[in-house]
Amino acid sequence: MPTQSPAAGAVAFRDSVRVEFDGDHADLVGPAGAIRLRPVRDGLRGVLSRLTEQPTPVADLLAPLPPAERTSVASFLGRAGHLLTWSITAGGRELARVEPTARGVAPRAGDVPSGVPLRLSRFAFCRSRDGALVLESPLTAVRIVLVHRAARDLVAALGTARTVPELTGADGHSADDVTALLGHLIGLDLLEAAGPDGRFRSDADPTLRQWDFHDLLFHSRIRSGRYDDPFGAVYPYTGQIEPRPAVKEPPSGPAVPLYRPALDELLARDPALTVALEGRRSVREYDDEPMTADQLGEFLYRVGRVRARHVPGDGGGDEVAARPYPTGGAAYDLELYVSVRRCAGLAAGIYYYDPVAHRLVLVNDDEADRHAMFTVASRSTGLPNRPDVLFTVTSRFQRLSWKYRAIAYATTLRHTGVLYQTMYLVAAAMGLAPCGLGNGDADLAARVLGLDYLRESSVGDFMLGSLRAPGDTTPPPDDTWHMANSPEWALAASAKLPKPTW
Ligand SMILES: Cc1cc2nc3c(=O)[nH]c(=O)nc-3n(C[C@H](O)[C@H](O)[C@H](O)COP(=O)(O)O)c2cc1C
Repeated sequence: MPTQSPAAGAVAFRDSVRVEFDGDHADLVGPAGAIRLRPVRDGLRGVLSRLTEQPTPVADLLAPLPPAERTSVASFLGRAGHLLTWSITAGGRELARVEPTARGVAPRAGDVPSGVPLRLSRFAFCRSRDGALVLESPLTAVRIVLVHRAARDLVAALGTARTVPELTGADGHSADDVTALLGHLIGLDLLEAAGPDGRFRSDADPTLRQWDFHDLLFHSRIRSGRYDDPFGAVYPYTGQIEPRPAVKEPPSGPAVPLYRPALDELLARDPALTVALEGRRSVREYDDEPMTADQLGEFLYRVGRVRARHVPGDGGGDEVAARPYPTGGAAYDLELYVSVRRCAGLAAGIYYYDPVAHRLVLVNDDEADRHAMFTVASRSTGLPNRPDVLFTVTSRFQRLSWKYRAIAYATTLRHTGVLYQTMYLVAAAMGLAPCGLGNGDADLAARVLGLDYLRESSVGDFMLGSLRAPGDTTPPPDDTWHMANSPEWALAASAKLPKPTW
């Protein structure tokens, strides 16, 4: 027989919520948003006051109200979920609190099947938050604050599949605690009952199986709507921590000035945008002749140089920069390092690209380190070929996280994608062989580049080299490719791309 869990009983505003009455309206102000209620009549006013004082069973809140007001208070409790906390009690003590993290979410309790193995969802996790242990999951818009040790012990036991008789028998948990807590964990998708085949939903469901734990958590937190922490450009550290500058102080080391192309020369030589877009492709094999230092200089100038830097005056505002590719808030957190294997006119080495002075600064001349960087890159392609140069894209993370909550790292990855496409198009326009990479070793890069992993480490990698004659590398598509939308465009565009003449 399944055990019916009682719905969460007493409800209160969270400690972080303020209620401000003004005339006929009230503002409920929480850490991540506010609700204005209007009109606030006597019944609702009394409910709001009680919710600030102590946890009260919903039935006790509603009982003194006339029927019409009961409906509106019940609907308010549903809407204001992200401002409320609901107690789960057993044996006269509070076991846990359910805090909805989205509007319109309320606790739900499910049946607890008795002889069936139960286990935490693969997506559930515990962490310390505001000094308490909380249980969360990207699958559900609630946070469970594990108030009582009995609740913490039960959750820990459910890391392994257990039946209710095992929990209440050999494991020694109280039957009341099990009934009260597990019903809510099941109702909120934090706990799963084994199916007839003995498998749990988060392991067996084809959609859930294909989500890595960290990917789903990341996805659930970088879009608004499912979680209640401050979100977006909220400048959380103003007055506490100095922001990072828009442009990094270059490392000291031997510097090599780079070639600067002239705009008129590029305009005269460049293919049309459509030719570059349609003819662009990833190339992982290279000509016998290496690319040149002038090509590298032109490439970096067109992709990554700082065109301008804005330092705010007394009026305040953000320090920002301008470069050829766009970034959120003009923040420009990304930096480029260049591992040079072979490049005519430039010594092999690992360099920092100084985007203001447009020069390379040597940061590492160790051959074994260079070799290690190229080995990781070519492993990502599944080919033995090594490009002429390998770009390591790093982010100065605190540049974004000083301004943005929740979305800082997601924004970095978006910037990396924007930079990749800029590199692809410039390489196509210049007749070079480009290839973006999806995998790189950030620990190796931090060591080799002399960086602190938490302040600046690698988020992308991009290979570049000299292009063989186009015909050599672009075999026509075979019949496993089902052509759509004028594929001859791409072929015709490839034919119009610059021939490698440098
Ligand atoms: C973000 C990203 C990651 C990539 N990762 C790799 C990689 O690790 N190894 C590789 O050989 N190609 C990689 N590529 C290149 C893709 O395989 C390539 O873009 C795709 O096959 C389409 O071919 P095309 O670029 O020639 O149009 C990556 C491309 C991007 C944009």
